[in-house]
Amino acid sequence: MFDVDIVRRDFPALATERNGRPPVYLDNACATIPCRQVIDTMNEYSLQYPSCGERSLHYWGKKVDDEVARARDAIARFINASHPDQIIFTKNTTESLNLVARGLHWEKGDVVVTGDREHNSNRTMWDDLAKEIGIKRKVVTRDGTQSPHAEFNVDHFLGELKATSNIKMVSLAMSSNLDGCFIRAADIRKICDYAHSEALQDELQDFYVMLDGAQFVPHKPVDVQAMDVDFMAFSIHKMCGPTGLGVCYMKDPDILERSLISGGGTVANTFDDGRQPIYLRAPHKYEAGLQHWAGILAARSAVHYLEDKIEDIPAHERRLNEIVTEALLPYHENEVLTILGPLDPAKRGSVCTFEVHPQHEREDMGRFFIETVMNAADGYNMMFRAGDFCVSPYCRQIRGEKVARIRLSFYLYNTEEESRLAVEMFRKILDERA
Ligand SMILES: Cc1ncc(COP(=O)(O)O)c(C=O)c1O
Repeated sequence: MFDVDIVRRDFPALATERNGRPPVYLDNACATIPCRQVIDTMNEYSLQYPSCGERSLHYWGKKVDDEVARARDAIARFINASHPDQIIFTKNTTESLNLVARGLHWEKGDVVVTGDREHNSNRTMWDDLAKEIGIKRKVVTRDGTQSPHAEFNVDHFLGELKATSNIKMVSLAMSSNLDGCFIRAADIRKICDYAHSEALQDELQDFYVMLDGAQFVPHKPVDVQAMDVDFMAFSIHKMCGPTGLGVCYMKDPDILERSLISGGGTVANTFDDGRQPIYLRAPHKYEAGLQHWAGILAARSAVHYLEDKIEDIPAHERRLNEIVTEALLPYHENEVLTILGPLDPAKRGSVCTFEVHPQHEREDMGRFFIETVMNAADGYNMMFRAGDFCVSPYCRQIRGEKVARIRLSFYLYNTEEESRLAVEMFRKILDERA
């Protein structure tokens, strides 16, 4: 197990203070803090060879090329991809999911299956394609219910797949940003086995599985080959890396018909006589225009930093989550609040989300959050999130808007002391309100 006190020394932002207090950063499901190694790599690029990769033959350009290749290798190793060309750099998970959705060939009536608690980034492009082309999106609940404590039941999910025709894509968050509930790798493998055997039987219909790995890849070891997924999206800014950098893993990187955008860097030749451009092979055909070179190089530093810690991150986060969950459970049992996701923190990994209920019909929970909770958090220099976390249909239509929905999300540099501080703060707020 890594030593959290030593880990914290690698995060300069944690050494800052406000009102005499260090930051208690519990908004890691949104973006994590970059480690010193990542910052050093970005500075090194800017200070020593600030130029363009994959085009320039001069010394700096070749240095960028080499470093980009090393970054692609490192990311491939981190998720056990079989080849670095399967790693496409994007801006974020959202762009990666869109790249696949927009790049595949769709026909009217093709079906995409998603879960019922997906991030908007795994929803809106399917809805756009439904409008533009006439694809259909089928929403499957985790276990046949809309219970806030539902866990993913693979038999239920496979049953729904078997009852549906024309499926071309299953697109699922492997771990939920709403409540941390995650799908086991073995269950993903079962879904992939089903999808790929169906595709084999029906030569006319492809059947892909895409994972939104935004909340999984930073927190648990991942093996894309063992799961046999076709696509996986994740964000480097949720794993100690620079902001605005994502990854799209593609088992067959040449499978997409087109990229999201095209232009410089994606083509081997172009014409002005009506002929079509000749595109480069993957990954280059998807990475149009000058890239976020500093970010790409620093992505290598981020995964390098996590490599020897990733096995131990789940146990560390579970402990932090246990402290908060144990303290909140009595309030949950007394219906002061509802913990979302399975009540066992081991099944929610790095996330503890809870809905504080109004005490009377007319209590304005938005105001409660902003005036009471955020004021208190400010005093503690504590940061976390509230709202619907981009899981709008489930949060707004199923759970309703008359709650203050609060999410604490942990990462490797958070401490038990920070969990206890969060407990102290929320206990005070909730007890004073009672
Ligand atoms: C499950 C999930 N999917 C997608 C996203 C979108 O990630 P990004 O903003 O990096 O594109 C997030 C962001 O929090 C997420 O939690």
